Amino acid sequence: MKVLVTGANGMLGQDLCPIFEDAGAFVIETDVDTLDITNAGQVKQVLSDIRPDLVVHCAAYTNVDKAEEDLKTAEMINVTGTENIAEACGKLGITLVYISTDYVFDGTKKDPYKPDDRPNPINNYGITKYEGEEAVRSLCEKYYIARTSWLYGHHGKNFVETMLSLADKPEIKVVDDQTGCPTWTVELANGILKLLSKPYGTYHVCGSGSTTWYGFAKEIFSQAGLNVNLQPCTTEEFPRPAKRPAHSVMDNGKICRNWQAALKDYMELRNF
Ligand SMILES: NC(=O)c1ccc[n+]([C@@H]2O[C@H](COP(=O)([O-])OP(=O)(O)OC[C@H]3O[C@@H](n4cnc5c(N)ncnc54)[C@H](OP(=O)(O)O)[C@@H]3O)[C@@H](O)[C@H]2O)c1
Repeated sequence: MKVLVTGANGMLGQDLCPIFEDAGAFVIETDVDTLDITNAGQVKQVLSDIRPDLVVHCAAYTNVDKAEEDLKTAEMINVTGTENIAEACGKLGITLVYISTDYVFDGTKKDPYKPDDRPNPINNYGITKYEGEEAVRSLCEKYYIARTSWLYGHHGKNFVETMLSLADKPEIKVVDDQTGCPTWTVELANGILKLLSKPYGTYHVCGSGSTTWYGFAKEIFSQAGLNVNLQPCTTEEFPRPAKRPAHSVMDNGKICRNWQAALKDYMELRNF
């Protein structure tokens, strides 16, 4: 199987490409320097020249807070860029995997969100990622939308590394009123491989179980064997430009392992 990956230099892309290669795929890695998804002509040209069987679309504008002041760029990459990819895939009959986010939900549901629950994004990043989903649904027949959340991986700036870098501080305050599903990029990549044998449609591919950012931090320090002064705080005490959903827990249909087990493997590899 020939697989073209967009945003291959990103945190997810760098873990996903070798996992797909190990599974027997011939992987063509692209990023903004070789395939700028906002350039419709280039997208058409590259996809019709290469004719992959599958495109895994990881490229995105991912700075949630910056998207509040720079909606234009977020729209250009997450909406127009995704339209370009979806249109070319639709016309050429290529299967498309689009990576979306728990931030398409408003976080008011008490139970875990199911894939067919109604999205209602509350920040610009979530709005643009949801519009990307809609573009995929309208322009492609053969698509998987994989919503993930609270992503961390060895090749990007992420919450686990931020927490570990703060371990020598006298006190660390972490938000305890936002609940979600931490997801290791390797789990997500393996989950996407599993999706390919399922019917086309929208899925949740995130760690099983849920926790708050405080609970996540507590587990990180516990697994690292570090004794720190960790204190819970509220979102109000730690204001950010973009609003976050309070409860964006997603039902993943057991496609990924428990988030604590995945974190353990991440920590072991990190210390290797
Ligand atoms: N990180 C999370 O917590 C999280 C949570 C839920 C969903 N997601 C989704 O998961 C996917 C992967 O996220 P990630 O954390 O791996 O993101 P990332 O590390 O920011 O990687 C995104 C990649 O896309 C590239 N890119 C940006 N603009 C582009 C363009 N015009 N053309 C081609 N490539 C472009 C980026 O290049 P530059 O670095 O040069 O800009 C980067 O290499 C995204 O769709 C994201 O929305 C992430």
